[in-house]
Amino acid sequence: MMNRRFFVQGLSAAALAAKSANSLAGTIFDDAGAEKAAPVRLGIIGPGSRGKELVRCFLRVPRVKIVAAADVYEPRFAELNQVCGYTVEAHKDYRALVDRKDLDAIVVASPLSYHSEHVLAALKGGHNVYGEKTMAFTVEETKEIVRAAEGGKQLYQVGHQYRYAPWIRAAVEKVRNGEIGEVTHVFGYWHRNSDWRRPVPNPSLEKLINWRLYNEYSLGLLAELGSHHIDVANWIFGEAPRAAMATGSVVEYHDGRENDDNVQAVLSYSKGRRFVFSSITSNAKVGDQLWVYGTKGSLNLTLLDALFYYEPKRAIQVPEAKGTVTAKGITTGASYHPGSEMPYRGPGKKLEIPVAEDPTATACAAFIDCIRTGKKPVADARVGLRAAVGVIVANQSLQERREMAIPSAV
Ligand SMILES: NC(=O)c1ccc[n+]([C@@H]2O[C@H](COP(=O)([O-])OP(=O)(O)OC[C@H]3O[C@@H](n4cnc5c(N)ncnc54)[C@H](O)[C@@H]3O)[C@@H](O)[C@H]2O)c1
Repeated sequence: MMNRRFFVQGLSAAALAAKSANSLAGTIFDDAGAEKAAPVRLGIIGPGSRGKELVRCFLRVPRVKIVAAADVYEPRFAELNQVCGYTVEAHKDYRALVDRKDLDAIVVASPLSYHSEHVLAALKGGHNVYGEKTMAFTVEETKEIVRAAEGGKQLYQVGHQYRYAPWIRAAVEKVRNGEIGEVTHVFGYWHRNSDWRRPVPNPSLEKLINWRLYNEYSLGLLAELGSHHIDVANWIFGEAPRAAMATGSVVEYHDGRENDDNVQAVLSYSKGRRFVFSSITSNAKVGDQLWVYGTKGSLNLTLLDALFYYEPKRAIQVPEAKGTVTAKGITTGASYHPGSEMPYRGPGKKLEIPVAEDPTATACAAFIDCIRTGKKPVADARVGLRAAVGVIVANQSLQERREMAIPSAV
């Protein structure tokens, strides 16, 4: 009974997600008739925190079943059964899952250092794959995933769900059509106030549970948070970054972690354009947000909305933007005057969207639609690769403390 209620609520949420995803920025998918569509049977490798969240999202799509799971940590299977409301077949070795012939796709939500092993085994085993970001741990691994994904009929979708947020899609489209002039900079802030640690029932499990903090498994904040923002910058600039310069330190949590608890990075694109990223874990004031700066205005993107601000000269020219900037136009000049250096303020012009659905739910529903229709995912292997190389090279730069070129072959 409980499952049915969840399922019915899920149906309407999924339908709303489809509507809002489709109405603004071109069709991602149309789930009309999904209730009558063929069942889709999924397996999952690594049903941990994110894996279970993906399962919740997939189960909101009509006629999807989680059939089997693989994990090296036994308690995950019971947790997964609880989420599903039924027993999912459990495999201790992911190879047994990959060998199954009764799956329509495999979801990979294991720690970053295992992504390529798990994704490549699944793709080479003939399975469609939803693979979490960051796509892979090394540049060579990312390229191998692209080759495997593009060399066969299997679908590969990467977990860059910002690509599925209708308000981000619509806003990026407007920016690419010149709404805020020439975009020269994208700034991404992902600030938190938390040590990133998870409780460990037994010290021998420290690295399995807190893998994010150890270099053998993780590329730190750049991978876990920065990859989403790099993806948005790539999308706006229409290319992969060409060079990366990054730095970081442990400023707050001196607890034996191997990677930094705060990171700053500058990624360079063609024509001198830049993406600037900051992640700190000791103050959450700015949260997770992106600012896109163009010669005629700015765009502020969050996981709930998109707001446009126009440079004062443009605000005067655009009647509907009145009131979105301070009433008194500001022109910055060569010499200093406090009044002309003040940030201009105002509510911004919000991009109205009918429904703010969690982008992960939309991304999962879109993946199922691709399986059913054979369409190619929006967040495909190339999207994953362009973000991953930014992460990987920025992390190398952070360790070597110098700017590093990103291989142009990507
Ligand atoms: N797209 C997003 O917004 C988003 C959000 C959160 C996490 N993620 C990504 O999801 C992935 C998982 O993150 P998480 O927070 O769920 O981690 P987690 O530690 O909670 O889950 C990982 C799971 O993989 C299992 N595992 C570890 N090694 C394994 C192996 N060799 N074989 C099979 N299973 C293995 C672990 O036991 C665990 O159950 C990461 O790549 C992370 O970046 C993406």
